[in-house]
Amino acid sequence: MTNTSKQDRVLIFDTTLRDGEQSPGATMSHNEKLEIASMLDEMGVDIIEAGFPIASEGDFEAVRDIAKNSKNSVICGLARASIRDIDRCMEAVKHAAQPRIHTFIGTSPQHREITALSMDEMADKIHETVTHARNLTDNVQWSPMDAIRTEHDYLCRVVEIAIKAGATTINIPDTVGYTTPRESAAIIEMLLERVPGADEIIFATHCHNDLGMATANALAAVEAGARQIECTINGLGERAGNTALEEVVMALKVRGDIMPYTTGVDTTKIMNISRRVSQVSGFPVQFNKAIVGKNAFAHESGIHQDGMLKNKETFEIMRPQDVGLTGTSLPLGKHSGRAALRAKLEDLGYPMEDNQLKDVFVRFKDLADRKKEVFDDDLIALLRDAGAAD
Ligand code: KIV
Ligand code: ZN
Repeated sequence: MTNTSKQDRVLIFDTTLRDGEQSPGATMSHNEKLEIASMLDEMGVDIIEAGFPIASEGDFEAVRDIAKNSKNSVICGLARASIRDIDRCMEAVKHAAQPRIHTFIGTSPQHREITALSMDEMADKIHETVTHARNLTDNVQWSPMDAIRTEHDYLCRVVEIAIKAGATTINIPDTVGYTTPRESAAIIEMLLERVPGADEIIFATHCHNDLGMATANALAAVEAGARQIECTINGLGERAGNTALEEVVMALKVRGDIMPYTTGVDTTKIMNISRRVSQVSGFPVQFNKAIVGKNAFAHESGIHQDGMLKNKETFEIMRPQDVGLTGTSLPLGKHSGRAALRAKLEDLGYPMEDNQLKDVFVRFKDLADRKKEVFDDDLIALLRDAGAAD
């Protein structure tokens, strides 16, 4: 594997079907998983974590069938630090043109206490399991779960062991969403500096959103040298979720001036997959969710609508078309002004003279005070009342 740390390409690793599905209540059917995987494959996601094959027969079958059907993406399965898990994982991913085994163990003091392993015993286990995985495939990812709360010296030690045993990607998970952008960057910098062989592998960042910083933490890790971002559609995932794919991909696209890294994702497919993941997982997307929320490209206030009608760049940092929408929406409500009302009436086929608009505008404001949003049918009824429509 070549050193990509200093290159500009950031790999997108989607774990909607594994970490995302671990959200309580987000279970998807076999066919739904296949459908989402094929959408991810088509939109240019580099690696799809399709599931946790040892977890259940259903998970195994989903990973196996996704592996059989994938065209472009690497197909990855998750496995604990156990030979049985790793073998089962390989059984499922081996059907892919590009299979990957992702094996992990919790390395923080909290996790060592639960597994009742000493530091040395855990180090031996890491060596044994990563070596085993590497004997099955040359594409092995290893994660020290809860890396952020792992003692730095120990983290460096286990990462070195995993690299020597053949891991080609080292993922640094912020399992409990505890880190901050500065710390997330510092840990990647430290590993690149202190671990022999670190420049031969790819570092990944895997953030959870418990403190609302998953996207910022992932981007900070990239700026420090990580070249794989682990994320999910709509930020689906355990507790407050994972880094949202649409957020990191669009942040890199929009702020290429200061973050000069590219991804292979076709961003125009974002809205479609966001809606489908929301439907099949049963998790609605919050209205004000960045990039994919209903209001992400909507402007209601008079000043904003007026600005948008004159020059979209006044209040828009990315084009709605770039995420697969047809355009900006200017919903009419009590904050809307005359310019937006006039534009909407023109769209509906009712161009207005100034004095006619004045009367309609008064009626519109009165209605908008009583109703959250004024729809096309409301406007037509209002025009009829005003004698401005048949
Ligand atoms: O959050 C986490 O630590 C994980 C690992 C299994 C990578 O999802
Ligand atoms: Zn996770």
